[in-house]
Amino acid sequence: MMLRPHIAYRLGQLHIEEVALERIARRYGTPTYVYSRAALSEGFRAYADACRGHDALVCYAVKASSNLAILQLLAHLGAGFDIVSAGELERVLAAGGDPAKIIFSGVGKTAAELGRALEVGIGCFNVESFSELHRLDAVARDARARAPVSLRINPDVDPKTHPYIATGLKDTKFGIPIEDALAAYREAARLPHLEVVGIDCHIGSQLLEEEPLIAAVDRLTGLVDRLELEQIAIRHIDVGGGIGIAYQAEETVAVGSFVKRVLARIADWRRARHGGSPLRVLFEPGRSVVGNAGLLLARVEYLKPGHEKNYAIVDAAMNDLLRPSLYEAWHEVVPFQEGQAGAKRWDVVGPICESGDWLARDRELSLAEGDLLAFLSAGAYGMSMASHYNSRPLAAEVMVDRDTIHEIRAREPISALFAQEKLLPLTR
Ligand code: LLP
Repeated sequence: MMLRPHIAYRLGQLHIEEVALERIARRYGTPTYVYSRAALSEGFRAYADACRGHDALVCYAVKASSNLAILQLLAHLGAGFDIVSAGELERVLAAGGDPAKIIFSGVGKTAAELGRALEVGIGCFNVESFSELHRLDAVARDARARAPVSLRINPDVDPKTHPYIATGLKDTKFGIPIEDALAAYREAARLPHLEVVGIDCHIGSQLLEEEPLIAAVDRLTGLVDRLELEQIAIRHIDVGGGIGIAYQAEETVAVGSFVKRVLARIADWRRARHGGSPLRVLFEPGRSVVGNAGLLLARVEYLKPGHEKNYAIVDAAMNDLLRPSLYEAWHEVVPFQEGQAGAKRWDVVGPICESGDWLARDRELSLAEGDLLAFLSAGAYGMSMASHYNSRPLAAEVMVDRDTIHEIRAREPISALFAQEKLLPLTR
């Protein structure tokens, strides 16, 4: 039975591509994040293929999953990158990403981050405020450079997603309110060390409908019309993150049809108003590239059947996969052996000392201590949101390529937890 692309039961045992997950657990231990190279490549190609024949660039949102090998593979497939910190920038460079295909998003870029990005020659800064425009202009002046900028416009549309990951409504901290956009572009065009190149938005993540995004695109294209009247030329339009994925049985929009719809909408507008002069289109997908290409492998430590609830305590926790605790997100949990009988309902929880530490609730599973479990759809915002809470070292990461297992991050040794810490010179 196929559970996700390249994740399936074969002869009753859970496999990713041609490798049984049991083999990975034996060799690398648990908890371990496991990715499929084929699924990841297909996740990216769904965007790239739909863009074929258009002037478009797919900039993978590094925050979704930032392991160097994942970035390297995506760079190899032609991806650009959407980054939000100096750390993500250095990761992309270390993985061999092309600086010219990097765009830098985020509301709080420091002067040092702006300077470093300018120094390596990134493709575009997605600026989110008047203050950032001035800071970037000053940094570029000191570097005797001109910084390519796009303004992130907050189009004030409701993306209809979880409030923590909705970013395109007026009252969020993100972007420049659309009513201030003209003034911001005039300011950007006036500043001598900035070069206006684009316009962008990102209204939220895990969007299950295209309509809010199309509404946002329409607001941006309307603004481009106004800007062109003022001789402020825009070369690219960046529509932000990708479409949502199915964690449970949500109805989703296929990536290809989402991308084609956006491209067609923009092409139609260009044809109608501008006699065909095309505009480059950028996408910044994260979740839909890597989300279903990865899983978190864990082992059942203890079973605690109870009067009210049955608890299965596993060796992964909220520090490894935060999404359930933070958003009450639902991740499918599947056992290593297919279809074991005698099911009970279990809350699958970690060993961390708080009740918020749960990974799945009220799931019908047949479990024994020592069993392996896989949390599916954990490729995006899984490892990248992991922490050290309760002094738990970060999990290992492996990538499976057909019948080969590549360790792409060694399990963190305990000593690394406090390697940067220092004792006091206690003299009294
Ligand atoms: N571009 C920008 C500027 C973003 O802020 C994000 C995500 C993306 C692109 C990628 O969006 P995607 O294609 O992945 O939907 N931790 C949350 C998700 C936070 C998303 C933050 N921004 C979660 O686990 O659901």
